[in-house]
Amino acid sequence: MGKKIEEKVVLHLLEKSELTEKEGELLEKAKGAVKNAYAPYSNFNVGAALLLENGQILVANNQENASFPVGVCAERTLLSYANANFPNITPLKIMIVAKRSQESNYATVTPCGLCRQTISEYELKFGCAIEILMLTPEGNVLKAENISQLLPFKFNDLNS
Ligand code: THU
Repeated sequence: MGKKIEEKVVLHLLEKSELTEKEGELLEKAKGAVKNAYAPYSNFNVGAALLLENGQILVANNQENASFPVGVCAERTLLSYANANFPNITPLKIMIVAKRSQESNYATVTPCGLCRQTISEYELKFGCAIEILMLTPEGNVLKAENISQLLPFKFNDLNS
C-alpha cells in the first residue's frame, strides 16, 4: 500500500453571535449581493462579500449564461474584480451565501473546485491566508481558516 500521506482539515461552525463586527457586516453585504445574482438557468443565487485589509468590503454574485459553461460563480466574479481593481490590497476573508429562487431559507453552499483553486491562487499571490465563511441554512457560519482546509493536496502543494 505504500506510505500513508495524511493531511488534516478543520472547519469551525460558528453561531452568528460569535462573528466579529466585520464578519457580521460581510454577512449582511453577501445577503444583499444574492439579490442581484443573475441565475435564470439554475435559480441558485449566490452572493459573496470580500474583506480587504484596508477594511473595504467588495461584493459580487454568480453570473450565468445561456451557454451554461460560460457562467461564472460569485466567488470568481468577486476575486477577479478585486484583483483587477485593488491588486495591491490583500484579501482577508470571503463570505458566501446562497438562496434558491422562490425559497425563503438560505441554501447550503461551499465553493466549487474552480473557485477553490482561484482562492488558492490569491493566497499564493498575497502570501497570506484567505478565510472562507459559508452561511448554513440554520443561520450559522462554517469557517475554513484557509484554502488548504477545502483543497488539501492542491496543485501548488505537490508541485513546489
Ligand atoms: N455557484 C456559485 O456562484 N458559487 C458556489 O459556491 C457554488 C455554485 C453558482 C454557479 C451556478 O451559477 C449556480 O451557482 C448553480 O451551480
